[in-house]
Amino acid sequence: MMFLSFLFITGVGRCDLFHGEWVPDSSGPAYNNASCRFIEIPQNCMTNGRPDDGYLYWRWKPYGCDIVPFDGKTFLEGMRGKHWALVGDLLLRNHVQSLLCLLSKVEVPTEVYHDRTYKSRRWHFPSHNFTLSLVWAPFLIKADIFEDDNGVSSAAPQLHFGNLDTNWMSQWDSFDYVVISTGQWFFKIAVYLENGSAIGCHYCQDKNLREITTGDSFRRALRDTFQFITKSPHKPVVFYRTWSPSHFENGEWSSGGTCNRTVPFKPRQSGDRAMDNFMWRIERAEFAKAVADDGASNAGRLKLLDTFELSLLRPDGHAGPYRAYDPFGKGSTGKIEYDCLGWCLPGPIDTWNDIIMQMLGNDLKPPPHPRA
Ligand SMILES: *[C@@H]1O[C@H](CO)[C@@H](O)[C@H](O)[C@H]1NC(C)=O
Ligand SMILES: *[C@@H]1O[C@H](CO)[C@@H](O)[C@H](O)[C@H]1NC(C)=O
Ligand SMILES: *[C@@H]1O[C@H](CO)[C@@H](O)[C@H](O)[C@H]1NC(C)=O
Ligand SMILES: *[C@@H]1O[C@H](CO)[C@@H](O)[C@H](O)[C@H]1NC(C)=O
Repeated sequence: MMFLSFLFITGVGRCDLFHGEWVPDSSGPAYNNASCRFIEIPQNCMTNGRPDDGYLYWRWKPYGCDIVPFDGKTFLEGMRGKHWALVGDLLLRNHVQSLLCLLSKVEVPTEVYHDRTYKSRRWHFPSHNFTLSLVWAPFLIKADIFEDDNGVSSAAPQLHFGNLDTNWMSQWDSFDYVVISTGQWFFKIAVYLENGSAIGCHYCQDKNLREITTGDSFRRALRDTFQFITKSPHKPVVFYRTWSPSHFENGEWSSGGTCNRTVPFKPRQSGDRAMDNFMWRIERAEFAKAVADDGASNAGRLKLLDTFELSLLRPDGHAGPYRAYDPFGKGSTGKIEYDCLGWCLPGPIDTWNDIIMQMLGNDLKPPPHPRA
């Protein structure tokens, strides 16, 4: 797979963008809480009072090459008239804010759509006629979720194998570029249906239904998704973004887990993350099958945005307690909940966009030559 991922990168020569290390870099982030108004509260670590800022002074350094920082001007020029969509769960919402911050340095977009809960949204950049959509589809496949606006569920979600979520299906033909990712929700209790009948469930009470593991349901959802993508006559460029690891220590989200680190891991320091690695392996296997199914004539249009390892090395990049304003201040009472899954903005996941820019290669006009 290492081999595959670099084959699909155009214009970078023989460099694997996804193997490298984080190195100190004094230049600092491309934007901050004062210059970008698109950072939402749970990611706004600066405004929420995170005291350390060392996590902002690192740069991803692939072995054998350098990544050029995201250039909003070149991106917007090259993507004139195009429609991008980020499809998936909350981490795509995290990602889109980074992209909005980077692009709004060039042009501030207007929000042209949001659903009732603001989980799906769309922005337009009028002077570049560029459209950016965030599409809420946490399982990618069709899901009936019985959850109120605060995330409190009244029944287990019902997932339909063989059917994809209409949130993205209904707009598919309008997308020119799609970034897809999913995974975290497959750990939840769920009932699985196929052709309208329940065929199994995960962690549920009904002993008449067979257990369907997280791995099995995740694999099947990816298979359904990639089957659709490779068979559809509409052929946008698709980036599949790999697993975004959490970094809870001394417990999980619900059992007092924390993430207090302030510097990245060195390569191989992240420890044995068996479950993360397991999910990542499933993604790479299903992606490789999709590329084979897509055929040689479409070579390069399915791109593996394999950010797992570089993200795994950033335990210091999560919002932690600073998902909320002034968590340790006088005004705050009660239990502090850590977010060791979502990422601070600015922060390490801005690199996901730097890498996308690099992978777009010839799709973008060559950048102006400042040195000329
Ligand atoms: C940005 O964060 C700093 C602390 O890092 C804070 O002093 C400042 O008020 C914040 N600015 C905005 C606009 O929230
Ligand atoms: C803007 O882009 C859309 C495609 O996304 C295209 O249909 C439309 O004609 C473009 N508008 C202008 C004014 O160029
Ligand atoms: C659902 O329907 C499809 C198409 O008719 C069939 O191939 C598949 O085996 C069915 N699945 C189940 C679990 O019945
Ligand atoms: C993280 O910080 C909290 C609050 O100061 C503390 O209770 C906890 O033990 C720390 N966790 C680790 C892993 O250091």
